[in-house]
Amino acid sequence: MSSLKAGKVGELEDGAMTSISTKQGDFLLARVGKNYYAADNRCPHMKGKLAQGTLEGTVVTCPLHGSQFDLKDGKVVRWLRGTGVLSRIGKALKSPKNLKTYRVQVKDDQLLIEL
Ligand code: FES
Repeated sequence: MSSLKAGKVGELEDGAMTSISTKQGDFLLARVGKNYYAADNRCPHMKGKLAQGTLEGTVVTCPLHGSQFDLKDGKVVRWLRGTGVLSRIGKALKSPKNLKTYRVQVKDDQLLIEL
């Protein structure tokens, strides 16, 4: 298993998210209290950049169509926002898919995303 350096403890404010683009991929790093969470930065729906969305607790909302995922386990909280015809068509065309998450380890003040 490899790991990716993702900055130092305390660099990210509580409740904030950032993106980390590397050769290994595009990752999201979030801090909630003392806990750090990492996930793919690209939404499983149509690759919206999740780090540009919003974070409430551990739930991230995609800026494109409002899908929500819990960063604790990547589970879908909501698949696409809205209840209208367009939303129903969108949901029928593409079924919900969880977000891939990664463990974040803290080693000597360094954050490491376990890939
Ligand atoms: S790309 Fe994220 S909800 Fe559509």
